[in-house]
Amino acid sequence: MIVLGIETSCDETSAALVEETGDVQRPWTTRSNVIASQVPIHREWGGVVPELASRQHIRDICGVVERAFEEGRASWADIGAVAVTQGPGLVGSLLVGVSFAKAAAAAAGLPLIGVHHLAGHIESLVLQNGELPVPSVVLVVSGGHTSLYLVNRPGQYELIGRTRDDAAGEAYDKVAKLLGLGYPGGPVVDRLAAAGDDRAVALPTTRLTHADRNAPALKGDLDFSFSGLKTAVLRHVNQRRRTGPLTEREIADVCASFQRVVVTALVDRTFTAARRHAAASVGVAGGVSANSRLRADVEAYGRSREMPTFVPSLQLSTDNAAMIAAAGLRQLRAGVTSSFGMNAEAGLKL
Ligand code: KG4
Ligand code: ZN
Repeated sequence: MIVLGIETSCDETSAALVEETGDVQRPWTTRSNVIASQVPIHREWGGVVPELASRQHIRDICGVVERAFEEGRASWADIGAVAVTQGPGLVGSLLVGVSFAKAAAAAAGLPLIGVHHLAGHIESLVLQNGELPVPSVVLVVSGGHTSLYLVNRPGQYELIGRTRDDAAGEAYDKVAKLLGLGYPGGPVVDRLAAAGDDRAVALPTTRLTHADRNAPALKGDLDFSFSGLKTAVLRHVNQRRRTGPLTEREIADVCASFQRVVVTALVDRTFTAARRHAAASVGVAGGVSANSRLRADVEAYGRSREMPTFVPSLQLSTDNAAMIAAAGLRQLRAGVTSSFGMNAEAGLKL
């Protein structure tokens, strides 16, 4: 079966065709994965402007779906179901994808599958690498989320840690903004950090030891916090600017030092969770998993502990519809589809 996936939760309009292979170890293959990025539109404003994002999704969605069919060499007659990101995300953006998917599924007489965006990020690992050895600990780290999931069985996601404040990608974007590096911040901080000294600026690391009042079921010591780090960078930069603008070298040092603290926290917590839950593998997915240091450190840490580690390809790291189609296929095979009364949900829980 081929599933059409649609993703419009934030600032990328994406459509993809993903096909079942019949191989239980590598269950899916990507026939097409078309992504229309809105980054140039939002860059001017220093971040995603929700109203502009939803309007641009409306302009792009039909063309993006047509291209997904062309590149995937398929027609509507070949499609078995339509999967769409139901949430979480910007509600105006989500609504464009959900409305399109409902209309398409109704017109073509196909099942509709509402997918959680983070389930999509987790399944990007399986789309790329095949089924993960379970139990697996998966870190989903993006502009909106920094969460640790325990996957005891394929398709079963248990939240075991999360950020109490900023997501790691959000911290990257804010630090880039205060350094005047533009939007989105992750890729540029990553690039500049390569030339910097990661010990040049002393920045605090946050380790939480207590349960979160808002999520008492979690022990809390696998949680993250990045807002104090961001404030420390701001304070350092403001103090330094009193004597003139930062040099290129100093900016690179700030980027490298900030990146070291973020990546250390992500890797440390992920492998602590893996040890605690006797994981057979570790995965890292979401936009920040494109980070060069995070990829290298996860791989090195895993190798030194003989723990298989998995990351998606760069294209599957950031938001895309192939991961949504893959998660949709997983749900469809588990017998979980959505009614046409389903709606976009900005705060959907996994
Ligand atoms: O998953 P994604 O495309 O969208 C969300 O669901 O949020 O993630 C986007 C985030 C942005 O915050 C962006 O700055 C960050 O991923 N990002 C990176 C890198 N590439 C993208 N962060 C660090 N290093 C990168 N190379
Ligand atoms: Zn995402």
